Amino acid sequence: MCGISGYVGPRTDAGKIVSDGIKHLEYRGYDSWGVACKQDGAIKIQKDTGKISGVDSSIFCSTSSLAIAHTRWATHGGVTSVNAHPHMSGDGTIAVVHNGIIENYQELRDDLITKGHTFKSETDTEIIPHLIEEEMKSTDDFAHAVRNACKMFDGRYALLAMNTTSETIVAARTGSPLIVGVNKTKGGYFIASDIPAFAEHTKTVQYLDDGEMVVCDGKSILFTDIASGEERPKREVEITWSVEQAHKGEFAHFMLKEIMDQKESIARAVNQDEEQIKTIAKAITDAKGTFLVGCGTAGKACMAAEYFFSVIAEHHINFAPASEFKVYHHFLQPESLMIAVSQSGETADVLEAMKVAKSKGAKVLAIVNVEGSSIDREADYTLLINAGPERAVASTKALTGQMAVLMMIAYAMKNQLHEGKTLLLESAGQITELLNPRYVERIEKLAEMIQDKEDLYIIGKSWNYPMALESAIKIQEVSYIHAEGFAGGELKHGPIALIEEGTPCIALVGNDEVTTDIISNTIEIKSRGAMTIGVAPENNEAFDEWLKVPDVGNAQALINIIPIQVLAYYLAVKRGKDPDMPRNLAKSVTVK
Ligand code: M6R
Repeated sequence: MCGISGYVGPRTDAGKIVSDGIKHLEYRGYDSWGVACKQDGAIKIQKDTGKISGVDSSIFCSTSSLAIAHTRWATHGGVTSVNAHPHMSGDGTIAVVHNGIIENYQELRDDLITKGHTFKSETDTEIIPHLIEEEMKSTDDFAHAVRNACKMFDGRYALLAMNTTSETIVAARTGSPLIVGVNKTKGGYFIASDIPAFAEHTKTVQYLDDGEMVVCDGKSILFTDIASGEERPKREVEITWSVEQAHKGEFAHFMLKEIMDQKESIARAVNQDEEQIKTIAKAITDAKGTFLVGCGTAGKACMAAEYFFSVIAEHHINFAPASEFKVYHHFLQPESLMIAVSQSGETADVLEAMKVAKSKGAKVLAIVNVEGSSIDREADYTLLINAGPERAVASTKALTGQMAVLMMIAYAMKNQLHEGKTLLLESAGQITELLNPRYVERIEKLAEMIQDKEDLYIIGKSWNYPMALESAIKIQEVSYIHAEGFAGGELKHGPIALIEEGTPCIALVGNDEVTTDIISNTIEIKSRGAMTIGVAPENNEAFDEWLKVPDVGNAQALINIIPIQVLAYYLAVKRGKDPDMPRNLAKSVTVK
């Protein structure tokens, strides 16, 4: 949600740098944008609703060395250019961009109104430059004024502030991400919500932690604690992924690129330190209760893992959507373990669940894709899935990476880590053949056949049940077709009433102890008129259409979801939707 990009340094095209920066953050989801540049001692702002991608970056100030930019995903106030960031102080000397929610903004706003401030927008953000303006009445030190303002905020935020009288960017964060990029050769600093905003300029980064702020004049940088003002020295970290990984390359969309990348990304996820996996397996065995938490697709990886732990490790583990975890805290003890799963590592509901677990003394293991993210930094231990940047809003390769890591842990609990790794690597090896051009074309044709349907159902059993739920999320979010996933055996308890002549129904099938059951469920819906599509290693007369997948035993869930990801992609494209940026959605959901 909301993307932030700032630059201060020797270059004089700061406006272009930051506007290119927010173009690289489009994947986060947004509905308006804005840029503020300092030029000739004044702050110039340009902002609008809609997409920044079509806007020529060279229109933003011809000579400026200090600029901030923002993509806004509306929370407080509608999608209007007035509500778009940056927001200015009443006297026009201070500009601010902000990600997150200032929960006590109404109270602060009311107080500012009594002091004579007037507001143009309906946003919580606009109070920030006004508060800083108030603080500047008693100091010349811009950073000090920003610090004092931050001390008044309740809620989660990441912000950048600039003013007309200093050559600095002041950034602060509590709960929402901010990363500094340092150009060691040419000088200059970048501050952004995510690395793609500045990856083409530098790979050297420094992470701000919660409750910290940064003051940067383009030549030097100072990290301090917001509350105490104490210095917080930071180490520089070199990021490993390449700029190409973050670009679409030959693919029409990131979603397709990322689906195809699963040929390699699963193997990267499997390539973990074996001793660490064994230590985690032991920690789960010893824990008094282990809770998996995640949201959306990551939540479905957790749900699949419940089955992995049950079938492979014969060990009970609980899953709760992170947003529901609050009511489970009664079960937590200091000896309990939480496993928090997230692609972005920034999902607010997951961070909230972690806070609850930690308050009970429980330890937290994070399984994340983004190194240095809040969840990575706040967890006691982290396993990175190494999927590389995932830019499409629809999560694909992160899901299979998360499931691969969780499945390995389940195997390690049975002292069969080697078997687990071999199975996963062999399964990953079969994806290249699976996703051959003819197969992909066949799925595209299938998408053409069903693109005008209003409803679509997916069924599965065992670990294919969470994959049925995941299939529904994928289809819903990119194609906007009404799709729902069910446990195959549950159909006869209600959902079968939805089946009409020609309703497309997908059955996710493996070659295992539940195959006969799920085939029976498919026959039940076919005999009520459904058009059945089987995703299965073997064809069956229950299927009107068959998408063949390799038989990979316990790893079937990871493979069965892949043709559905491709189907969802083509359903979106055929229906004229942008699969990378679905309406109303954001890549990392940093609000509760
Ligand atoms: O970054 P996270 O994995 O924590 O994100 C969780 C969900 O918001 C995410 O999986 C969402 O459901 C995806 N858009 C689904 O494709």
